[in-house]
Amino acid sequence: MGEGRLAGRGAIVTGGASGIGEAVTRRFAAEGARVLIADVDADRGKRVADEIDGVNFLETDVSQPDAVAAMVKAAQRDFGRLDILVNNAFWTAMRRTHKLSVAEWRRTLDVTLDAVFYGMNAALPVFLDQGSGAIVNTASICGLGADDGMSAYNTAKAGVINLTRTAALEAAGRGVRVNCVCPGLIATPAVERGFLGRPEKREEIGVQIPMQRLGEPEEIANVALFLVSDEASYVTGAAIVVDGGTSIRSGVPDLITKQG
Ligand SMILES: NC(=O)c1ccc[n+]([C@@H]2O[C@H](COP(=O)([O-])OP(=O)(O)OC[C@H]3O[C@@H](n4cnc5c(N)ncnc54)[C@H](O)[C@@H]3O)[C@@H](O)[C@H]2O)c1
Repeated sequence: MGEGRLAGRGAIVTGGASGIGEAVTRRFAAEGARVLIADVDADRGKRVADEIDGVNFLETDVSQPDAVAAMVKAAQRDFGRLDILVNNAFWTAMRRTHKLSVAEWRRTLDVTLDAVFYGMNAALPVFLDQGSGAIVNTASICGLGADDGMSAYNTAKAGVINLTRTAALEAAGRGVRVNCVCPGLIATPAVERGFLGRPEKREEIGVQIPMQRLGEPEEIANVALFLVSDEASYVTGAAIVVDGGTSIRSGVPDLITKQG
């Protein structure tokens, strides 16, 4: 058996081909876990899996319950065991509520919320039977409040947070822990595509964050690692905010000039 905080454990990371999921995959593998990346992006998923020892790839659309059930079976087959599930894939359209199409609303909820249910629905029986297991769902600080033009995403992530709590409560007496992480703005390909574009943009956005910068995917992976490790043995149902201080504010506009 290898060494590390996750030595000998089998894990699944959905959306593991990019961004936060890729960083989580790399971090878990570095700690001795075998990891199955489940992602719709086969090119990128295979490339990441090829680069890391102990990492496999399965092309999976997490909005399809049968595909998610097959993903759990594949990890059990490939690794001989399953101990960790990270539900992390997402999709969204950013448009105000009156401009969002029904198809965009449904796709956001399918990939970003329903898929988290499918993942837990498929993996929890395995974890409950073996009396151990850890789930981390990637929620968002967007699930804790409202943002202009993000109603479907805000709704999906709020759902992920409460689904996490319910599953945690149900599994708490049976050796299974369920938590979620709520990132603020993290410099991933999704954010590069959606907001950054120009290099100056990153700085413009960064100064609006109390810590004066965007987060890095590895800073979320570190928290996910803690949550699935034995060091978090008494942590369940938590929504851990990792946002450089973004959600500290009450929302009241700044009333005094910055005094340095
Ligand atoms: N980047 C941020 O600022 C930020 C902030 C808060 C929360 N999050 C959350 O972190 C998670 C990862 O986001 P990211 O920024 O790393 O994005 P990303 O685009 O870099 O990675 C998302 C991955 O999900 C995969 N994916 C999309 N649809 C899928 C589907 N139907 N089935 C399987 N895989 C699918 C994509 O192919 C991609 O590899 C998401 O849940 C996102 O909501 C991100």
